Amino acid sequence: MKKDIFDILLEISEIMNSVFNTDELIPQILDITEKFLKVKRVSLMLTEGDYLKIISATNLPVNYNDIKVPLGEGISGQVAKTGKPVIVNNENVCEDELGYQAKSYLSFPLKVREKIIGVLNLTDKEDDFFGDKDVKIAGYIASQCALAINRFTLYEEKKKAEHLQVIGKFTSSIAHDIKNLLQIVQSYIELMEIEMKGDSEIKFYIDSICTEVKLIHGLTLDILDFANRQIALQKSKVNLKEFLEEIKKHVDILLKLTPVTFELKFSENIEFMCDRDKLFRVFFNLINNSLEAVGENGRILFEAYLQDGNLIFIIEDNGKGIKKENLNRIFDPFFTTGKLKGTGLGLAVVKEIVEAHNGDIAVESEENRYTRFIVRLPVG
Ligand SMILES: Nc1ncnc2c1ncn2[C@@H]1O[C@H](COP(=O)(O)OP(=O)(O)OP(=O)(O)O)[C@@H](O)[C@H]1O
Ligand SMILES: [Mg+2]
Repeated sequence: MKKDIFDILLEISEIMNSVFNTDELIPQILDITEKFLKVKRVSLMLTEGDYLKIISATNLPVNYNDIKVPLGEGISGQVAKTGKPVIVNNENVCEDELGYQAKSYLSFPLKVREKIIGVLNLTDKEDDFFGDKDVKIAGYIASQCALAINRFTLYEEKKKAEHLQVIGKFTSSIAHDIKNLLQIVQSYIELMEIEMKGDSEIKFYIDSICTEVKLIHGLTLDILDFANRQIALQKSKVNLKEFLEEIKKHVDILLKLTPVTFELKFSENIEFMCDRDKLFRVFFNLINNSLEAVGENGRILFEAYLQDGNLIFIIEDNGKGIKKENLNRIFDPFFTTGKLKGTGLGLAVVKEIVEAHNGDIAVESEENRYTRFIVRLPVG
């Protein structure tokens, strides 16, 4: 006895509702489609940027893992672009989503509200003809499929966000403990320096340890500031000359065993209000990035001058530069290129600290030529 369409739709929705995750859902969709529509091949494609990617298929004669179809191209690409289904019936030859020959073909958009998230393709109906009832069933499967995928995606995104929140809390508590322990290490190093009068070689090693510890300390503070999402400034009066010379002292130690040259340029001296430790981290982060970007004949210039009531700091290097398309992404948290252990937090924190001082930061760069960061801080 032939089943009534309502029985079929009911059966389909019961099967779809009994699924609890995407891993189970996708094979179910292919199964249901094959079973109720009696087709030779089924494929499910989801949109990824400007492409459709096959995420699962039955009886495709090729490995589909790396296949991408541009939106607008071929039948499925058109369906994904226009949101309108395509039905090809009883033709001598037509082409399916991968250009294979077929006699009948049905391609349905997967829509959530008006957004197209993918396409369901059916190739070669048993009797070469999709009737009205088949089209209705296929449309129903596609709509149920879109809703289920959307439901699971939202659920998985929520789970991921919760997971990231836990990791964030965990990381900041570790960063907090490391920061406190490093403060103790720093105090011991300072004591060693006082005790150790004269021996310049050992003094160099101690200074190097001190600089590295300061870097790690800065990194833990970056993580904490980032996790807190707010920068609390502790401002004090700072002498520009002393501040710049302290930075130079640490940078010189950092560069001692490298061929890179560092030049500090400033002509005026003033006193200004700022969070000295945080501003130190700003320039140390920027100089460190320059150091990582330059090669054999590396040169880093650090310049400070007064202009219209602002302190302008320039950090310039002759390193590999920044690709044009990355220039507006480098301040994004977690954006990092070409480094194994880069967190991509350095510049995000730099920007937050500068802006907390009511200043701003800009970048100019040309690939394989130079990179220049310009930090502006109001003096008042
Ligand atoms: N002076 C520079 N020259 C070339 N590229 C740079 C320079 N400064 C920053 N960048 C680019 O900006 C990206 C982001 O820098 P950021 O300091 O935020 O992270 P990172 O240096 O990659 O990682 P981390 O600071 O955690 O070590 C870098 O990965 C690099 O691609
Ligand atoms: Mg960095």
